[in-house]
Amino acid sequence: MQQNKYDDETFFNKYHQMARSQQGLEAAGEWHTLKSMLPDFKGKRLLDLGCGYGWHCIYAMEQGAKSAVGVDISEKMLQKAREMNTFKQVEYQQMPIESIQFPEDSFDIVLSSLAFHYVQSFEDICRKVSVCLAAKGDFIFSVEHPVFTAYGTQDWYRDESGEIKHWPVDGYFTEGVHHTQFLGEEVIKYHKTLTTYLNTLLQMGFEITGIVEPQPNEHLLATVPGMSYELRRPMMLLVSCRKK
Ligand SMILES: C[S@@+](CC[C@H](N)C(=O)[O-])C[C@H]1O[C@@H](n2cnc3c(N)ncnc32)[C@H](O)[C@@H]1O
Repeated sequence: MQQNKYDDETFFNKYHQMARSQQGLEAAGEWHTLKSMLPDFKGKRLLDLGCGYGWHCIYAMEQGAKSAVGVDISEKMLQKAREMNTFKQVEYQQMPIESIQFPEDSFDIVLSSLAFHYVQSFEDICRKVSVCLAAKGDFIFSVEHPVFTAYGTQDWYRDESGEIKHWPVDGYFTEGVHHTQFLGEEVIKYHKTLTTYLNTLLQMGFEITGIVEPQPNEHLLATVPGMSYELRRPMMLLVSCRKK
C-alpha cells in the first residue's frame, strides 16, 4: 500500500507551516547530528531518496558536490524543490522510492532523511541502493525510531487530567502498516524493528559506520516548549554505512 500523503492539499499545507519547511535544515532538530555523520561531498554524485523540498541536495551542492538527484513521490514537494533550486546540476525526479532503478555506479553518496518509514520493504531499498552506489560509497539515512513507530498512535499515553504518563511501546515485533496521526491527519507508515534496519544493512554488504539516537541540544531544550519530553524516548534513528 503506497500513499502519497504529501500531495494531499490539507496535509501539504500543514507540513509547509512546519519550521523545517519554512527555515530549512537549521530548524530540523536532528540536523546538527545528521550533518556530523555526512561524508565530504566534494566532487561527489548524490542521490537523495524522499528529498522533499530538496534541502539536502542544496546543502550537498553548497559543499561542492558534482551533482545531485532528488527522488520523491510528491509533485507538490518537488514543485517547491524546483522553485528553490538554483543549481543546474540538481535534477528532481517524481517517482516512488520503491521504483528507483539507477544503473550500477551512478552515485557516490545516497542519503535519505525521514522517508524510509513510508516504504514497506527496507530490504528492497538496500538492494537498489547497493546496485547504484559506487564501491566504498556512503549511505546515510534517518528514520522514525522503531520505539517511536511500534505502537502506531504516535502519541503519549496521558492520565485523565491530560498529563503525560509514558510513551506506549507495544507490538514491537509486528512489522508493517500503521495508521498513524501526523499533523492531525491519518498517515500510513511502516514499522520495522531495529534488527531489520541494522541486520538488513549487514546482510546486504554494508559496513555500519555510525548509529545515533539523537537528543535535542541545549539550545532547543531551552527555547522550544515541551522539548524536554524528547528526552523520554527516542524519536529518530540515524545510520551511516558504507558499501564494501
Ligand atoms: C518528512 S518528509 C522529508 C523530506 C526531506 N527528506 C527532508 O528531510 O526535508 C518525507 C518525504 O518523503 C516522501 N515520500 C513518502 N513516501 C515516499 C515514497 N514511497 N517514495 C518517494 N518519496 C516518498 C514524501 O513525499 C516527503 O517529501
